[in-house]
Amino acid sequence: MFMNVAKELQAAKFGGYAIGAFNTSNLEVTKAICLAAREMDFPVIIQTTPSAIKYAGLKQIYDIVRNEIEESGIKAAIHLDHGKDWDVAKACVDIGYPSVMIDGSKLPYDENVALTKKVVEYAHERGVAVEAEIGVLGVEEGGESGSARGDSFSSPGQTAEFVKKTGIDSVAVAIGNAHGAPAGEKLDLGLLHRISKTIDIPLVIHGSSGLEDSDIITAIRSGVAKFNVDTLIRRSYLDGIYSVPKEEKDYRNLFEAAMVPVVEVVKQRIKLFSNN
Ligand code: G3H
Ligand code: ZN
Repeated sequence: MFMNVAKELQAAKFGGYAIGAFNTSNLEVTKAICLAAREMDFPVIIQTTPSAIKYAGLKQIYDIVRNEIEESGIKAAIHLDHGKDWDVAKACVDIGYPSVMIDGSKLPYDENVALTKKVVEYAHERGVAVEAEIGVLGVEEGGESGSARGDSFSSPGQTAEFVKKTGIDSVAVAIGNAHGAPAGEKLDLGLLHRISKTIDIPLVIHGSSGLEDSDIITAIRSGVAKFNVDTLIRRSYLDGIYSVPKEEKDYRNLFEAAMVPVVEVVKQRIKLFSNN
């Protein structure tokens, strides 16, 4: 079965480490993440965006991730990443996701609060953890271009109010992080520290692929318990695919070769997040 995400993130926050949340859209990346977690003997979150669900099919990707976690014997859970609306959040709760993100960060503040509260009520009644976002990151999830500076950073006061009003289990903040690892991505660690003092739930950093190791280590000390990783996964998978000679005739060899760099990048991230 899946690990209890809310409990594991709280344990990470107070234990001085973080849990990596790695994006997948298919069997091979899912297998690679599980292999890395088993070798590192460390918990992981395997997450699917709405576009990954559209690509693979909700039941298909849910079954792939659940089966791979069970067969690997690892401590892990599937998570909806960047759920943009009620329908996708409800569908994931209903099929069995133990954790969902409802991302209303682009909505006016009051609409973000209302949507998030609605998902929290539905999810918590079914024992499902909820992550939400306050503040706007510089680049959309899955984007590869754009500036690192977010449209609007999170603030201590509004984050504390948002957490109180919605009842979420973890909060994603915008403090200079951006999706797609743009050049110059840098966390405002002073702002992070001020935000973390106003709340007692775990913090989540999206857009971690482009962050310096030192920023990640300092952020963990300020209560960040989850780092999202997609760009490093995408790039390493493509590197693996392109490393195969074009004469290769068996596509299974192509996809197996592509898993190797993904396993390595996930192991390297787990080593960094585990803070050992
Ligand atoms: O939600 C997914 C992550 O925030 C992606 O971040 O682009 O730095 O890998 P990344
Ligand atoms: Zn993200």
